[in-house]
Formats: sequence, C-alpha cells, structure tokens
Amino acid sequence: MTLSIRAKALLFHDPRSTALLVQVERIARSEATALIIGETGTGKELIARHIHSHSERKGPFVAVNCGAFSESLIDAELFGHESGAFTGATQARAGWFEAANGGTLFLDEIGDLSQSLQVKLLRVLQERQVVRLGSRRPVSLDVRLIAATNVDLKKAVAADRFRADLFYRLSVATIELPALCERPGDILPLAQHFINIYQSKLKLEQVRLAPQTQAALLAYEWPGNIRELENVIHFALIVCRDNVIQADDLKLVGALHRNISAVQSAALSAKLSSSDVPQQPAAAANEQANLLTRLERLFGELIDSGESTLFDSVEEILVRTAFAGCHQNQVQTARVLGISRNILRTHLKRFGLIRLETTSPASGIVNLDAPSVSH
Ligand SMILES: Nc1ncnc2c1ncn2[C@@H]1O[C@H](COP(=O)(O)OP(=O)(O)O)[C@@H](O)[C@H]1O
Ligand SMILES: [Mg+2]
Repeated sequence: MTLSIRAKALLFHDPRSTALLVQVERIARSEATALIIGETGTGKELIARHIHSHSERKGPFVAVNCGAFSESLIDAELFGHESGAFTGATQARAGWFEAANGGTLFLDEIGDLSQSLQVKLLRVLQERQVVRLGSRRPVSLDVRLIAATNVDLKKAVAADRFRADLFYRLSVATIELPALCERPGDILPLAQHFINIYQSKLKLEQVRLAPQTQAALLAYEWPGNIRELENVIHFALIVCRDNVIQADDLKLVGALHRNISAVQSAALSAKLSSSDVPQQPAAAANEQANLLTRLERLFGELIDSGESTLFDSVEEILVRTAFAGCHQNQVQTARVLGISRNILRTHLKRFGLIRLETTSPASGIVNLDAPSVSH
C-alpha cells in the first residue's frame, strides 16, 4: 500500500496521448468514479495519481492491489479493525476506504477481485460508510474511487466472473490507455526521459541514442509497454560504452512492431512525423497509402528546404531504419524494402552498416563498430 503521492513526471508526446491527457484532466476535476483500462506497464497507476492531484481532494492517495490479499484477511483490509478484534489484531487499523478518506482510493487489478469481495465492495459503495471489525460505530466516507484493469471487464461480466452492477458503478468515466506501440510518438521522448533519470542515478555523463538505436526502439512492439522501455533503457545505460547507446545495447525480447509499418517507422526515425498528424493503429492498406501520401508531402517540404544531399540522406535513412528494425537480418530487411539481398548489401556497405569483405585500411569506410551479422 502506498500512502503518499510520488512525484513523477507524466510524459505525453504522441497526439493520441495528448488528447487522452485532456480527457483525463477533465475527468479529474469531476468527482466521477473512473475506470482505467490498459495493458500492464501502460501507466495506469501514474494516470490515477494524476487524476488525484488534479482534483480538489486534499486527502491521501491510497493504492491497493486487489489480487494481493488472501480471502481470510480481506475483511480486515477492506473495513479495518479495532485492537483485539481477532487473534493477531494487536493494534487498531483503518481499512482501505477509511485510510483514503477525503482522498482517492485506487483499486489496481480490479478484475482479480473474488466474487465475495465484489459483493462487499459494492455494499460499501452503496452505503458510503464502513464499520471496523470489532466496532459498532460506522465511519462515513468521502472517497473517490479509481479502478484499473488489464483484462476486458465487459467480457468478464459476460462470462459471469464480474458483477455487472459493480462494473457499472466503477465505469462512470472510462479511460483507455493505448499500448505503447499504438502511440509511437511517445517512444523516443520517454526513452530520453528515462535516460535523464537513470544517467544521473548511475552518475554518467549525458548519454545519447545512436540513430540505429532510435530506429530499433521505434520498430519494437513493446509487449511490456512503458515499464519495459524503462527497464531496457536502464540496462542499456549500464552496458553502453562511450556514452552512446548502440542498438546492440538494447535487450529486446519481443518481436518487431505489431502495428507500424517499416515506412512509418522510417518516417518517425527521421523525425519527419510531427505532431500535426495523429498516429493510428491498424495496418490496413489505406493506412499504408495514407502514410505514403504524408511521406510525399514531407518530401515536398524537404525539397523546398534546399537540402543538398537529399537523395543520399533519404536512401540512407530508409535502409538504416529497416536494417535496425529487422535486427540486422539482411534477408528480412531486403524483404521489408522489396529489394534483392545483393542490392541491399551494396547499400549497407555504402552507408557503412556492414564491413567490406576486402577491407582496405586506407578507404576510410570500414566501420568496425557496426554489426556485421548476416543471416
Ligand atoms: N506517461 C508517462 N510518462 C513517464 N513515465 C511513465 C508514463 N507512464 C508510465 N510511466 C512509468 O512507467 C512505469 C509503469 O507505469 P505504471 O503506472 O506502474 O503502469 P501500470 O500500472 O499500467 O502497470 C512506471 O515506472 C511509470 O512511472
Ligand atoms: Mg500497475
């Protein structure tokens, strides 16, 4: 149980996230019970804390994990107890609701609540008061409730695992937090945010991300969402050399991106994708066409800007991004780009992304740091 508000910066950069933040802050000012839905690591608890701190509530923020209590202790947890109420109850203690009185009670993993606890919780919500075990004096409650779930509660209701009446009471306002890969514009700012946090903890100088690393971060699916990104950056800071995080320093265990095409991540890594265009999920064909139209417009802007090595730069960004996104797998990169492996190899050599077979030290193009993995 956490009784204090940890001061943590919320970072929202992707258009989907900034739109969500507006909604969250509107909900915060109302007194409505809120249900936050999102995969693990998407920031549900952080959003709940944000709602609390943007409300008028002066009391504490109390977070409890509904799956973490044994059935026999649950009454004491929920209602609190007087001393001597049962064996082992040496001191009086407030329950969840009483501890959060005047503030916000955050019920995490609400989908894990047992049927009997669902009934008890519903009763507290209806009566707006609790009686401690071993006491007869009811305590009236002024508590704002926020619940979070990573399971589809509607399905749980349909399958009779979650009470419909409780579901409707909890979901007055719902907030759906998209998975990290559905808000790609957040990935690099969050990575930078975690670099800033951990480099000072590790007493490092300013660490930066190599371009290939940025492309790999954008191309990854992030099954563990922001929590996984935080861990990956923390680990990369420990293993990286010369204050640069290379793609190899990233310990990525999942697969490539679920939704975003190679073209889109190329555009993103080139920072061509800006906040004026919302990122949507779904890799439908018209989405692809849409992306190419955007790319065309961006090319127009680049041409107007008078960049002198435009052709080479664009080719390099495309090849480099695809190669990093495919974890240096040449066969896969060639397939993603729709070119033969031979042509790909020519480009990879040209941009110093693989070693030349016949290395001439005088050529100056030999890049010994670049990975030379072939599959
Ligand atoms: N928008 C955000 N900006 C900065 N850090 C975030 C953001 N969302 C989540 N985090 C961080 O990611 C981690 C996971 O967030 P958390 O709220 O615990 O996720 P969940 O409850 O959905 O599993 C935490 O360390 C949190 O501080
Ligand atoms: Mg959580």
